[in-house]
Amino acid sequence: MAGRNGTVVCPGSYDPVTNGHLDIITRSSQVFERVVVGVVNNPVRKGRTMFTAEERQAFIEDATVELANVEARVFSNLLVEFAREMDAKAIVKGLRAISDFEYEFEMAQLNRKLDPGLESIYMIASPQYSFLSSTGVREMATFGGDVADLVPGPVAAAMAERLGER
Ligand code: PNS
Repeated sequence: MAGRNGTVVCPGSYDPVTNGHLDIITRSSQVFERVVVGVVNNPVRKGRTMFTAEERQAFIEDATVELANVEARVFSNLLVEFAREMDAKAIVKGLRAISDFEYEFEMAQLNRKLDPGLESIYMIASPQYSFLSSTGVREMATFGGDVADLVPGPVAAAMAERLGER
């Protein structure tokens, strides 16, 4: 594909995937040849997840079915190792606000130390998603808030079902 530039990995916990994540994934798919959405199996800073890694992967696959150059995979190793396995040139992540910067700065430096050949690229979130996080969506849904505009339909339905099971 002329004008596009190799494989990138969009990593995350995606517990669950939000419309903000999908904005970054879609925009990445317009710039790069192949986008691998890397779903981390056991996120270190998140504790127990609401959805299993396979469920989180399936939500992404469902939401990106029309994007031919996007695939979703679960990974359990270091991000730099996963990126190497995928033959990726770069990691692409979204940046919503200054508050994301400190954590992402540290992650980018750690990943650079682990693999200086792998670039970290940050895409600024579209303004309508600059407040949106999986944590916020989970909290809203837990207390009965309407998340229909914030996540894909099947995710909203699965959250309602999961919370109803409790
Ligand atoms: O959506 P998140 O929780 O911000 O995503 C965090 C993620 C998955 C990008 C990060 O936890 C990660 O890269 N995990 C894999 C282990 C790793 O390589 N950590 C960074 C270097 S120590």
